[in-house]
Amino acid sequence: MNRDYQYQAKQVQAITIRPFSFDFPDDLDPKWVPSNIVRSHFFNGVSLTMPYLEPFLVKTMREAAGHLSQPELLEDIRAFNGQEASHYKCHRRLNTLLKTNGYPEFEAVEARLDTAYKKLSTRSLRTKLAYSAGFECMINGFTTWLINKRQQLFAGASPHIASFWLMHMIEETEHKTVAFDVYMAYSGQYWPRAIGVFHGSFHVLHYGIIGMFTALKKDGTLGELQCLTKIIRHFFSLLWNVAPFLLRALLPWYNPRREADPEWMRQWVAGHAKLSADDRLPLVDTSDPEMPVPFIQ
Ligand SMILES: [Fe+2]
Ligand SMILES: [Fe+2]
Repeated sequence: MNRDYQYQAKQVQAITIRPFSFDFPDDLDPKWVPSNIVRSHFFNGVSLTMPYLEPFLVKTMREAAGHLSQPELLEDIRAFNGQEASHYKCHRRLNTLLKTNGYPEFEAVEARLDTAYKKLSTRSLRTKLAYSAGFECMINGFTTWLINKRQQLFAGASPHIASFWLMHMIEETEHKTVAFDVYMAYSGQYWPRAIGVFHGSFHVLHYGIIGMFTALKKDGTLGELQCLTKIIRHFFSLLWNVAPFLLRALLPWYNPRREADPEWMRQWVAGHAKLSADDRLPLVDTSDPEMPVPFIQ
């Protein structure tokens, strides 16, 4: 236990557990970014990892909670787990449709993920917490990438899947401090956390990329020059937008509280708060060049 740890206030007022009431259409097209199949399958690949990664995060946080006593942190863990549980259940629904609607090959990727996360669950709590904190700092970079570049990434895309990814990322930003705080309260040691930045980020990306290549291979587009160009451009964009978050996370004085939240995220949270409990989630208009938050301002 880190006896020097002291809880610090978060930037957000609350970590809100929201229902993910997305009605994905039964005939949902797995190539849901029609202008860019590589991008569709990259996000499909990352979606495959979520029903394995996010339950792992929840179990790790629950295990850590047994060692912690700070009431604010325990409340953050409860909210973090509530959000992550909603995420992976919704990803599971989406992934079932992806498999049914053209890519049963994803089952083999899921089998590999199942084995990988069972193995990871046997590691020490410190390693699992460092992995969790590392992944969460990477996904915070993902959030900024997806929100700030939403017009380029999701123009003309399925409003259901684009809205789902954006809502997931908003909640990731909302709970971005929790895994880091839990690691700091439990251990606080620098080197295991630094290793966790790479472990948590690249482990998930590795399986996401396997999913992406599985689908592109099925499509028979892998050998095409246009496909290879799109892969290179996609990963350059990912690296350009997310790598700075990983580099900052490697600083010994890193704290996710210093990362600014996108304005669109704050507008989305304020807009969602005005919905009544039985309102359906409005979808982001992916045909609007501005892609504003889907709530009346
Ligand atoms: Fe999540
Ligand atoms: Fe998260």
